[in-house]
Amino acid sequence: MDLDSWQQDLRADFPIFQSFPGTAYLDSAATSQKPRAVLDAVTGYLTTGNANAARGTYPWANRTTARIEETRDQLRRFLGAPEPSGVHFVSGATEGLRAVARDWLAPLLRDGDEIVVPYADHSATVLPWQEAAALAPGRVTLVPMPYDAAHDYDYTRLAELVGPRTRMIAATHVHHVYGNDMNIHRLRAAAGPEVPICLDAAQSVGHLPIALGTLDVDFLVFSGHKAMALPGTGAVWSRDVRGPAFAPGGWAGTPNTAGIVSLAAAMTWLDRAGLDRIEEWNRALATRITEALAKMPAYEVLGCQTSLADPAVQQRQSIVTFRHREIGSNDLGFILAGDDLLVRADGHCQGPRGEPTASVRVSLHVYNTVHEVDRLLHALSALDQ
Ligand SMILES: Cc1ncc(COP(=O)(O)O)c(C=O)c1O
Repeated sequence: MDLDSWQQDLRADFPIFQSFPGTAYLDSAATSQKPRAVLDAVTGYLTTGNANAARGTYPWANRTTARIEETRDQLRRFLGAPEPSGVHFVSGATEGLRAVARDWLAPLLRDGDEIVVPYADHSATVLPWQEAAALAPGRVTLVPMPYDAAHDYDYTRLAELVGPRTRMIAATHVHHVYGNDMNIHRLRAAAGPEVPICLDAAQSVGHLPIALGTLDVDFLVFSGHKAMALPGTGAVWSRDVRGPAFAPGGWAGTPNTAGIVSLAAAMTWLDRAGLDRIEEWNRALATRITEALAKMPAYEVLGCQTSLADPAVQQRQSIVTFRHREIGSNDLGFILAGDDLLVRADGHCQGPRGEPTASVRVSLHVYNTVHEVDRLLHALSALDQ
């Protein structure tokens, strides 16, 4: 099947686009739309076997507990995880990253320790390390992650910064503003064999195949709702080889059973669709936008542009962020919304070393079409003066 008909079949799986055929949803980095298989799995669960998990001994309760355990195994396979490894369900990347920082790292910290923090990434992968440092006895230094001019991590400088007191390196798989793959396969060599790495995979899970075996990180955290599952879903995967097992503290309470059912259905749907092809589709749309904007003088694309053709250096995934040189980004967002082009226009929750002013972010997923992208480009070119 060619890529176009493959994509048309997949798009037809999303009921929201049948309700709003003229609306181009271009904000999937914030949250994804949900395929029918996910909605049906949740409805099916709630109408035929809804019960609490890990308590109760009747069949619905046992079945719910078993589904949660099966989903943990499915997630390990989905991420290509080496065994043994832990999976903890959370409400999203924010909660997961805070749990790693507060529950796992903070009790291990001692006076003089260091944490490498990526201050130009999402605040959700900056603030938790500040919290962990504040909880620690004595003084813990937050070392800024070095970046190069293309917004990739500067692995040469990072290797010089890592020392015997480095207790954690926080990093992001795909940047939520610049859209670039941060070349995480190079991170372990710079970090050395001992330092734990916590990877924020909020913008990569569900968008491209993840091979944890080759990434060699200790924690991977993501939001299920950005990967076709329901809001309030996500997970922390932990490897437990560079320190104690990850065991989030506090009171566990009732898990998000319906959300976990949705996550299982989302992974099944994504696997069937094929993450290689999803990545190929999204990258092709993002490249189309980047290349068209490069020819419109009124726009400035943030992050990598020319290096798109050199995948060994930088790979843009499904996100393109830009500014109009005259029109404010919030105004541009309103103008585009008037044309049923739903983009995000603000500072995108970037950390303190992020962009100084607002921008417009277009973020794609496999349900987006070439026609939608061309509608966007048409609307943008009308303002190119
Ligand atoms: C890279 C990155 N990390 C973390 C988050 C936070 O995710 P959530 O709001 O689902 O907790 C986001 C959300 O936009 C993100 O893009």
